[in-house]
Amino acid sequence: MKILVTGGAGFIGSHTVVELMAEGHEVAVVDSLVNSSALVIPRLEAITGKAVPFYKADIRDKESMEKIFEAERPDAVIHFAGLKAVGESVRLPLEYYENNIGGTIKLLEVMRKAGCKNIIFSSSATVYGDPAIIPITEECPKGTCTNPYGWTKSMLEQILSDIQFADPEWNVVLLRYFNPIGAHESGTIGENPSGIPNNLMPYITQVAVGRRDVLHIFGNDYDTPDGTGVRDYIHVVDLARGHVAALKKMEPGSGLSIYNLGTGIGYSVLDIVHSFEEATGVKVPYVIDERRPGDVAVCYSSADKAHRELGWKAEYDITRMCRDSWRWQSMNPNGYGDEDMG
Ligand code: NAD
Ligand code: WQD
Repeated sequence: MKILVTGGAGFIGSHTVVELMAEGHEVAVVDSLVNSSALVIPRLEAITGKAVPFYKADIRDKESMEKIFEAERPDAVIHFAGLKAVGESVRLPLEYYENNIGGTIKLLEVMRKAGCKNIIFSSSATVYGDPAIIPITEECPKGTCTNPYGWTKSMLEQILSDIQFADPEWNVVLLRYFNPIGAHESGTIGENPSGIPNNLMPYITQVAVGRRDVLHIFGNDYDTPDGTGVRDYIHVVDLARGHVAALKKMEPGSGLSIYNLGTGIGYSVLDIVHSFEEATGVKVPYVIDERRPGDVAVCYSSADKAHRELGWKAEYDITRMCRDSWRWQSMNPNGYGDEDMG
């Protein structure tokens, strides 16, 4: 199939391009580069040994998007493009709603006009809020999000569901990611946060590589075995393969489907620090700080539905995730090195 990957220069999108091409799909990438580097594209070409058609465009720019759809005529869209910084979304809600929701609506309009009605959407475990059940199944009710970023995901799920209900020609897959970490085994592509990382693993690797002094652990008084927050960390390559599996199941009439993409295993912050140290031999000094507002104590998936229906399950363990995160960071101490990384 020909797949248009929006946000394909980003962390998860770039890894998904590799896995799509490994399965024989044709790919074209659209990215505004608002949170990524053009240097990703030649690295993808080096990994895959093939050309990766790239359009530097904003999904909100309908005219450009229409031209891209005319040129590429994709069978399906995998839609990663969006802003994702939780704290920033609290400060800039309008920008987040406009980019993530406004951008997706424009994309959907262009898709409809082009007759391309197959979409896989990057949703998030954040839609469960403080989860009502653990492990979290897809039947778990959606919760109250604690930030505008989370609401963009929750609202976009609703918008996509409504569109599919109104017109059954649409096939919509909502993938709820848990906590992606790791990187491609080549160490040439990976997560490249600008400024101070919000997420745990890039913070750990930046401490390990000497860019930051110490990890701040946000609270050790949660109701968890060691008091630190528990999450479901998943290797980004496994996550990428989840998209390929979802695509394989997409066919006329498949309608709306929702899958968690996680491992089903919960690790605490201290588990991750210790696993990282054991896997890499590099020490990660830390201090215990206050809880971070909006954090929940425990969040991990039941990954059964994706296994049952898509035949997909995560393969890589926490040691592999830590090693691959570290390989990427140590080979690229300043990310792609073409911007001020804060
Ligand atoms: P990322 O920031 O690395 O990738 C997103 C890409 O989208 C970036 O390359 C950015 O330049 C691009 N982009 C943003 N707005 C755009 C626009 N208007 N037009 C064109 N391109 C635009 O983030 P990621 O971690 O790869 O996340 C990919 C998707 O998965 C996002 O939608 C994110 O919200 C979602 N998600 C991420 C996580 C996570 O922890 N990383 C978890 C759950 C869901
Ligand atoms: C993990 C754990 C922190 C950083 C976020 C978004 C979510 C999704 C994934 C997109 C928590 C602790 C973290 C640090 C720490 N993104 N931590 N020190 O919060 O589970 O999820 O990213 O959809 O929407 O909210 O991930 O990596 O930020 O935190 O102690 O410097 O690590 O408190 O327990 P989170 P995270």
